[in-house]
Amino acid sequence: MADPSKLHPADEVTPEGRRQFLRCAAVTGASALVPASLLSACAAAMSFQGVVADGRVRVPADQLAQIEEDAGLLVNAPGLQEKIWLIRSEGEWLAIGAECSHLSCQVRPRGGFIACKCHGSTFILDGRVVRGPATEPLRRYAVKDIAADVEIEIR
Ligand code: FES
Repeated sequence: MADPSKLHPADEVTPEGRRQFLRCAAVTGASALVPASLLSACAAAMSFQGVVADGRVRVPADQLAQIEEDAGLLVNAPGLQEKIWLIRSEGEWLAIGAECSHLSCQVRPRGGFIACKCHGSTFILDGRVVRGPATEPLRRYAVKDIAADVEIEIR
């Protein structure tokens, strides 16, 4: 795991970012004529649009299969209080609110931490603060395995 004191909010070179860059470079290197939309897709976070039913959002197995270790899928659904990062870490699922507890910017998992670019707050993957200015943890949601799918419980 990276040392949080070495992280900087503007630092884009993380293991996750490096892997994503190499994947994108491999794809774009195959052809000199790459559509701009492909390049922008490489920079975007993976996201999933779900539905809240009975206080839960179900994320299907095919979406889960795309999430790398210590990386996340940004889950959104009409009626959610905030978007939620579904993160795979050490074989477990963590569902963490994507809204920073400082001033509500969107946070993002990178390099084994969750970082906020607005003012540099850094959290460990379970949402606890390791560097301010945030003083409160990110919201954490319960996660349940349902066969090969995962359900996030919305409070
Ligand atoms: S809003 Fe995230 S650190 Fe200020």
